[in-house]
Amino acid sequence: MGYRFVAPNEMFTGENALQLAKESIKNYGKKAFVITGPNVNKIGIAKEVTNVLDEVGIKYRVFDKITGEPTDEMIDLAVEEFKEENDFDFLLAVGGGSPIDSMKAINAVLSLNKNIDNCSGEEIGKVKYPMIAIPTTAGTGSEATKFTIITDTKNNVKMLLKGDSLVPNMAIVEPKFTYTSGQNVTAFTALDAFCHASEAYTSRKSQPLTESLSVSAVKNIFQYLPIAYENGNDKVAREKLSVASLQGGLCINNSSVTLIHGMSRPIGALFHIPHGLSNAMLLPHCFEFAIDGAYEKFGKLAKECMIADKGDSDIIASEKFVAKVKELCAICNIPTLKEYGVDKAEFEKYIDKMATDALESGSPQNTIKECTKENIVAIYNGLW
Ligand SMILES: [Fe+2]
Repeated sequence: MGYRFVAPNEMFTGENALQLAKESIKNYGKKAFVITGPNVNKIGIAKEVTNVLDEVGIKYRVFDKITGEPTDEMIDLAVEEFKEENDFDFLLAVGGGSPIDSMKAINAVLSLNKNIDNCSGEEIGKVKYPMIAIPTTAGTGSEATKFTIITDTKNNVKMLLKGDSLVPNMAIVEPKFTYTSGQNVTAFTALDAFCHASEAYTSRKSQPLTESLSVSAVKNIFQYLPIAYENGNDKVAREKLSVASLQGGLCINNSSVTLIHGMSRPIGALFHIPHGLSNAMLLPHCFEFAIDGAYEKFGKLAKECMIADKGDSDIIASEKFVAKVKELCAICNIPTLKEYGVDKAEFEKYIDKMATDALESGSPQNTIKECTKENIVAIYNGLW
């Protein structure tokens, strides 16, 4: 069987990644449209990036109005500002997943000359502007993916835009930019990356290249998330998690997510729970359901990550994997829905709709074990 693997053209990781990327950035043109959020701007990270642009003689305009998960209104505003000067050679996003996702949508709107609300669902063709992504959290992996999710504020739905051309051309994964993430952001984002890597490994679409990236990411998140959670300034842990996040992005870009992400998105949309947290809440429950359809895969992952012994049966190794996942969530103090303050009756009211939405996303169908609407309903009910 043959496989296709799509990734950014250039990826810089590790200490001083930004400095190392300097010479390559010069090849992208003379003027950049920089997309970021007010916080990243305020704490000086955006400035660190524009200082580098200054050093190499690139002019820029900073748009810092991505204030949270991107909406059509933010995209429209950015496009308007872009068009005021209209002489930019490339786009550069610095921030969490939101500015990076926004950059992809801005590029799609500028290239297709369409309203953002009409870009949903279709495969985005060639885009006009090269893109550079500089993440400041270690989790979404958006710097390496072809997806972007934008909220349609008129209809209150999340639009998925996708296309190989939306994969950023360059990813600069500078670990020091993640030092400012507090305990919760560190845990939620790293567990999002954990889901990307482990879901891709146990997906029907897994392939040899993503499998090796998954093993490395899962192993490092097991080992280094507890360290970074305890001490956000641990240099080695931050570096390992930032690479794991990029690996997770490459994994989902080429092998997709499965049941966890499929069930997590509807919870996020309806109950406004951060993406990484709703994934983490679902993680042990979904894998507990999925392992008996893929003992070989889960067992192999557990052995590769040295959570299980070589001599363990696949069943024992898979069970050890799920137990270790539960332990990691406990270390990171992942709350239950109840502890997070979600109203049980309100949640139950939406279970049927959430199960339908989860299946419609297509992600649960990537799980090796056959998965019905009844199974999904049972997992949602099991979260209480
Ligand atoms: Fe995710």
